[in-house]
Amino acid sequence: MDMAGKPLLDVLSGQVLPVPPVWLMRQAGRYLPEYRKIREQAGSFLELCFNPDLAAEVTLQPIRRFQFDAAILFSDILVVPHALGQQVTFEAGEGPRLAPLIDTASFRTLAGQIDHGRLAPVYETIGKVKAALPPQVAFLGFCGAPWTVATYMVAGQGTPDQAPARLLAYRDPDLFEALIARLVESSAEYLVRQFAAGVDAVQIFDTWAGVLPPYAFERWCIRPTAELVARVRQQVPGARIIGFPRGAQTMLPRYAAATGVDAVGLDWMVAPEFIADRLDSTMPVQGQLDPLALVAGGSQLDEAVDRVRAAFAGRPLIFNLGHGIVPQTPIAHVEQMLARIRQG
Ligand code: CP3
Repeated sequence: MDMAGKPLLDVLSGQVLPVPPVWLMRQAGRYLPEYRKIREQAGSFLELCFNPDLAAEVTLQPIRRFQFDAAILFSDILVVPHALGQQVTFEAGEGPRLAPLIDTASFRTLAGQIDHGRLAPVYETIGKVKAALPPQVAFLGFCGAPWTVATYMVAGQGTPDQAPARLLAYRDPDLFEALIARLVESSAEYLVRQFAAGVDAVQIFDTWAGVLPPYAFERWCIRPTAELVARVRQQVPGARIIGFPRGAQTMLPRYAAATGVDAVGLDWMVAPEFIADRLDSTMPVQGQLDPLALVAGGSQLDEAVDRVRAAFAGRPLIFNLGHGIVPQTPIAHVEQMLARIRQG
């Protein structure tokens, strides 16, 4: 048992619990009226991320409302490029915009190291949340995986297929390697500081891992993630880390074995039979409810929840979605899901 009695940490240590701990990716967000209210007060999205009082408040909102088993720090994966000096803004309703990193000249404008001064408000948020969290609730920090952060840095925005980063990696692998190396170092430092400020575990979001062919998956997803994990553990021995390589499919077992993460996040596309056959039965998993089942509700939601439970019975499981909660999700459906999970 974990000393502080946090079920989510017990699962990360390999325990199988009769009722799995549950949290939702993007649990602080626009589906909550109390979030939308604070979001309006805050100014821009980045101003909200860098306002410790308001960021702590929105981190805690879903815990108060739903008693989730984990709180996730309210911030964004793109604060790392921001702290490397890249221009980052969020356009209302359109997502992130960055000054695209297209060649060696633009790479040279990046700082050699992240400016922890720029991230100080995030570390302050962590202290505030930690002081306010109920003792059984685990506190998660996070960062984007180097590959996923690079896709935004290169394209300057979200893209349907991440083509700009994929092309740059083919056309100038040395430059791309240098960018990934910078992100490994920066992200490791960022996560170490998050642990120092008080998080219990961290998640590495590799949202766009699934577009990489196997060779590139090894080089741009697995290798940098393994190095990131090793660097964090050098400074935080035993650091607990969840990896979420979205879309990894048949590469998941290799990712789980080679990166050193304590648990893997599963998207909703991967077949549970494949996981049962190919992933060591002691490896904790997190996921994998389809976010649209949560939008739909009704008996379809109950059945989808039961299928996830049944698929991973006997394995350490953290119940979650297969990707972030979408803004149109009815709050009543989140309540229905929790009641279904917690009835046993
Ligand atoms: O509740 C939580 O999960 C914690 C906060 C969190 C946010 N972003 C807040 C956010 C976390 C963990 C993230 C991670 C993140 N950010 C990822 C990886 C996870 C994923 O969803 O794939 C990525 C790719 C980003 C980059 C990003 N941030 C994009 C592409 C967008 C625009 C799309 C959108 O949903 O609007 C954001 C904005 C963002 N990050 C919002 C929130 C709550 C919405 C902006 C707003 O409220 O105005």
